[in-house]
Amino acid sequence: MDNQLLKGKNGIIFGALDERSIAWKVAECAYQHGANFVLSNTPIALRMGKIDELAAKTESKVITADATSMDDLDNLFQESMQELNGKIDFILHSIGMSVNVRKGHDYYNQNYDFTMKGLDISALSFHKIMQTAWNLNAMNEYGSILALSYIAAQRTFPDYNDMAENKSFLESIARSFGYHFGIKNKVRVNTISQSPTITTAGSGVKGFDGFFKYADEISPLGNAKPEDCARYCISLFSDLTKSVTMQNLFHDGGFSNTGISDKVIANFLK
Ligand SMILES: NC(=O)c1ccc[n+]([C@@H]2O[C@H](COP(=O)([O-])OP(=O)(O)OC[C@H]3O[C@@H](n4cnc5c(N)ncnc54)[C@H](O)[C@@H]3O)[C@@H](O)[C@H]2O)c1
Repeated sequence: MDNQLLKGKNGIIFGALDERSIAWKVAECAYQHGANFVLSNTPIALRMGKIDELAAKTESKVITADATSMDDLDNLFQESMQELNGKIDFILHSIGMSVNVRKGHDYYNQNYDFTMKGLDISALSFHKIMQTAWNLNAMNEYGSILALSYIAAQRTFPDYNDMAENKSFLESIARSFGYHFGIKNKVRVNTISQSPTITTAGSGVKGFDGFFKYADEISPLGNAKPEDCARYCISLFSDLTKSVTMQNLFHDGGFSNTGISDKVIANFLK
């Protein structure tokens, strides 16, 4: 694929940890499409993950930032604009973590310090990233900002725990900031609601294998693959989608609009 949909565009990609990360696939695809970008993640992710490998492959620079820290974000945007020789055209927020899930707390037994930390990392960070870009006037006209979400924002998936609220908050931020950024300089803001995907964050959810298989059997196209999610992100960063904003876009093989499938029914007739 050498359509070069992002030729001449500058980006910041948050959240590539290892080759399973959705952000990793987006970075690979953005590179194929001619984009220049900076990769960002936390210092610990840099130590534990493989981001340097991705940086070498995509000829990009890594700049560390904790996406909950306004100082880190300010530094990241300033450095990125220097490195990329100009303002930013696209941003990917591919960040999520529930401390309650990680520490084994059920939904009805949350530690609220953990809840607030998870909300800050998974949702408020999206606002912080956009507020930083806004204050530095860092976005080019018709830029595109995306975050990754999950359908637990609309429907209950019990073991998704407090990440459900985090995703609802995230999607709401996309709508509200999308309004303001649209008025300011025609910047688009959307979320993509992706199928269950086998990654470090995904497989941290209790019962993940079960609901991965269930979603796969319900969806007419099967679960959407991370490589396809990456291509969808590229289309939303490109000039092909200049009027799409303030949307939560399902990228889920049809899961969100399917009530039941023959495959799932067959399991109950055995
Ligand atoms: N895997 C799934 O099933 C699935 C489905 C739908 C949506 N998503 C969403 O996709 C996004 C990416 O997750 P993934 O599945 O690729 O898993 P992943 O574990 O590869 O990525 C999560 C990333 O968040 C980063 N992160 C955590 N705390 C951070 C902080 N304070 N500052 C900056 N970065 C931080 C991690 O270092 C990691 O790179 C998340 O928002 C996740 O909720 C995942």
